[in-house]
Amino acid sequence: MEANKKSKITIKDVSRVFFSPSGERIEAIKDVNLEVEDAFSPAGRDIGEFRVLLGPSGCGKSTLLRMIAGLDKPTSGQVLVNGEVVTHPGKDRGMVFQKYTSFPWLTVAENVAYGMKINGVPEAQRKETVDRLLKSVGLTEFADVYPETLSGGMQQRVAIARTLALRPSVILMDEPFGALDAQTRSDMQQLLLQIWDETACTILFVTHDVEEAVYLADRIFIMSSHPGTIVEDVHVPFDRPRNLELKEKSEFHDLQHYVLGRLKSAPGIGGHVRVSI
Ligand SMILES: Nc1ncnc2c1ncn2[C@@H]1O[C@H](COP(=O)(O)OP(=O)(O)O)[C@@H](O)[C@H]1O
Ligand SMILES: [Mg+2]
Repeated sequence: MEANKKSKITIKDVSRVFFSPSGERIEAIKDVNLEVEDAFSPAGRDIGEFRVLLGPSGCGKSTLLRMIAGLDKPTSGQVLVNGEVVTHPGKDRGMVFQKYTSFPWLTVAENVAYGMKINGVPEAQRKETVDRLLKSVGLTEFADVYPETLSGGMQQRVAIARTLALRPSVILMDEPFGALDAQTRSDMQQLLLQIWDETACTILFVTHDVEEAVYLADRIFIMSSHPGTIVEDVHVPFDRPRNLELKEKSEFHDLQHYVLGRLKSAPGIGGHVRVSI
């Protein structure tokens, strides 16, 4: 099992204040401390972690993720990834947003290859990577079509493949399945778990859906809002690989209810939390 651990993401006393157009002070994140460690097998293999940041709308989840991505800066405190203070975006961190943003003038394969091209990856290697990733997200036969002709779930699969292409050590996902219908969302959760198992990367996944959090995570950071803080770090004990049968089990429902209870009892809860049972 775990021989040693090193810190992947460290959030130290981070606060982020915004000002509304009318000058009102908004304390989006206050004194957040969080640590995502990376686990290694005794043989030295990087096992990867699946962490979920769960909280109601407006509690500061996106703000926190954007600071880790280097798209925003804390008002005070420090954000470190792999021991380095984050100052700007980098290819060690891949980001997947709720709304898929692709280049409409590029095909699916070209979109997946784009980042590698920018980073000077040789063509033969780009092709091999694109073929492999399109296969793992089930889009091989759509390689030459344009993304806008695809369904929302398929577009998110392109986004995941594009992110994996740069072999990031951390993948940050901001409610990536939030706009999908229930069936597609469930399929995508399964696909993501499978990909995560194959790549052993560390994922920090944001959601406001309790069931999604419990199904995917090995640990859940529960957030409260106004101001956004972490109220609890919940360990999810279920074995992997996980499949849909888990969602029928009483242990699963019990943990779901526990997490929901913690969310409800969190101070300052203002937004809505989705519970899907
Ligand atoms: N650029 C910004 N300017 C002003 N307020 C912002 C900005 N970004 C986020 N906020 C505010 O910060 C709080 C947290 O927002 P956000 O991180 O988007 O929450 P979540 O992703 O959990 O829904 C909200 O009150 C939001 O209105
Ligand atoms: Mg958000």
